[in-house]
Amino acid sequence: MIWRCDLVPQYEAYQDEINEAIQRVLRSGRYVLGENVAAFEEEFASYIGCQCGVGVNSGTDALMLALWCFNLQKGDEVITTPFTAIPTYSAIRHVGATPVFVDVDPATFLMDLKQVEKALTAKTRAIVPVHLFGNVVDIEKLREIVGPDVFILEDCAQSHGASIRGKMSGSIGDIAAFSFYPTKNLGGYGDGGMVLTNCKDFAEMVRLRRMYGMINKDEFITDGINSRLDELQAAILRVKLRYLDQMNRRRQELATIYENLLDDSFIKPQLVKDGVNAVYHVYSTLCTERRDELMMYLEGKNIQTNVYYPMPLSQQRGYKNTFQTSVELPVTAEVSKRIIALPFYSEISAETLAFVANSINEFYHRMI
Ligand SMILES: Cc1ncc(COP(=O)(O)O)c(C=O)c1O
Repeated sequence: MIWRCDLVPQYEAYQDEINEAIQRVLRSGRYVLGENVAAFEEEFASYIGCQCGVGVNSGTDALMLALWCFNLQKGDEVITTPFTAIPTYSAIRHVGATPVFVDVDPATFLMDLKQVEKALTAKTRAIVPVHLFGNVVDIEKLREIVGPDVFILEDCAQSHGASIRGKMSGSIGDIAAFSFYPTKNLGGYGDGGMVLTNCKDFAEMVRLRRMYGMINKDEFITDGINSRLDELQAAILRVKLRYLDQMNRRRQELATIYENLLDDSFIKPQLVKDGVNAVYHVYSTLCTERRDELMMYLEGKNIQTNVYYPMPLSQQRGYKNTFQTSVELPVTAEVSKRIIALPFYSEISAETLAFVANSINEFYHRMI
C-alpha cells in the first residue's frame, strides 16, 4: 500500500538520536515542563524569529490560549477561513467570540484577502489566517487591510518553517499557534503545541494559564487550564527541529516532481505565490472533474489519498447553528468537492511519486 502519510521512515531515519533523547528523559525523573520544554521553547522561538515561546498541550490549546490573551467579550467577532481544520473555528467559539468566515482564494486555498475588508465591522477584534497546507498568507498585506487595532493570530499548525519575503510564518502577526501533532512538518509522538509571540505580556499570560494560573505552588492569580507540554515530546521535537529545514527542502523537491509529472489540464497544484517559501504540509491539488472516481481508481492501485476538507465547517452538524447563514462561501464549497491530497511525506521516494502521478494521468487520459 502507498500510504498518504507514513511516519515510520522518519522515525527510522533519526532513531538513534530520538531513542537517546527519550532515554535521557526517562532517566531524569522529570516528565512535564522540565529542561527540555524550556530549551525547546527557546530553540523553536529563535528558529521562527520570535522572542517568546510557550509550550502547550496541542495546537488547539495554542490557538485558544492565544485568543484568550485578547480579552474578547461576548459578541466580539473574530474573522477566519471556512477552509481549515475544525480547531481553528472551535477555538474561537471556545473563548466566547463569534467566528466570521471569509471565503478562500480558488488557487491558493488561503483566506481571500480581497474579501476581508467587507467582513470587518465595529465588532471585529481579531483575525485568524491559516497558513494552509504549508502555503503562507501575506500577513503584512493583511495588516494593511485590518489596521493596527485588530489582533492577528497566525494559525501555523501546517506551516513550520514556511516563509514569505524571508519572514517566517508565525513571526509576522501579533501571536502565533503551532501544533506538533505527529503528522505535522515538525511532529512529536503524541500531542503538543506552542504559542509564539514578541509580546512579553501575551507570553506571560499564556505561561500562567497553561497551568491553572499558578505563580507558585500555593498561589493562583488568574483562571487557567492544564495544557502542559511534556518532556518526552519536547526532547523528541528538539532532535527533529535540527532536521526540519532538510525535511522541508525534501518536501519542496518532491512537490516539484509531482508538479512536473502531473498533467495540469486535469489536476492543478495549489498556487504558491512569488516570494513564498511553502513547505507542503500536504500535497493537495484540484481535480478539474471526477475527483471521487479518481480516488476509487487510485485505491484500486493501492494508492491512498485523502480529502482536506470534504465538508465545509459551515455544514458540520455540530456547528450549523453557530454560523452566519447570510454569508455565501462558494469557493470553499467548490474546492471541497474537487480537492485531493496525494501521498506525500518527506521520506516518500521519487519513484513512488512517479507511479502515483502516472496513475492519475492514466485515469484522465483514458477518459479522452
Ligand atoms: C490548521 C490547523 N489548526 C489547528 C490544528 C489543531 O492542532 P492540534 O491537533 O495539535 O490540536 C490543526 C491540526 O489538526 C490544524 O491543521
